[in-house]
Amino acid sequence: MDATLIPGPVRGKRLYEAKCAVCHGSDGQGAKAADGSWLFPPLWCDSSFNTGAGMAETFTAASFIRSNMPVAGGAIFPLGQGGLSDQDAVDIADYFAHQPRPVFAAKADGGC
Ligand code: HEC
Repeated sequence: MDATLIPGPVRGKRLYEAKCAVCHGSDGQGAKAADGSWLFPPLWCDSSFNTGAGMAETFTAASFIRSNMPVAGGAIFPLGQGGLSDQDAVDIADYFAHQPRPVFAAKADGGC
């Protein structure tokens, strides 16, 4: 992942709505199966990963989504993942990484 890229969260929001919201929801809420298990994990708000997760950091999240998301959204990898450029991934990641989510206590306290 090219760490010199400048994140553009406004463009990222547009791309998120076009490529990600179908599964993860316009409000990042994810989607559950009939039995209550997660079908598509939430990306922000109450049930999402917390502020201590690497996924809450723009470039870590960008690297993950460039290789793994959207599922079945492209034609590059065997399962159809991929198709995001580095800039797309950084823009989208910067948008969702900075949404509200549960606070990781040790981080909030400044602890380990
Ligand atoms: C077709 C449905 C689908 C689309 C479209 C999709 N995802 Fe996902 N996403 C999933 C599924 C399913 C998982 C869970 C994968 C797993 O646990 O192995 C997931 C996992 C994730 C995770 C990890 C969440 C966590 O708590 O660890 C992130 C971040 C993510 N997706 C971001 C995105 C972004 C950003 C996009 C758009 C570029 C996107 N996804 C598009 C289905 C989708």
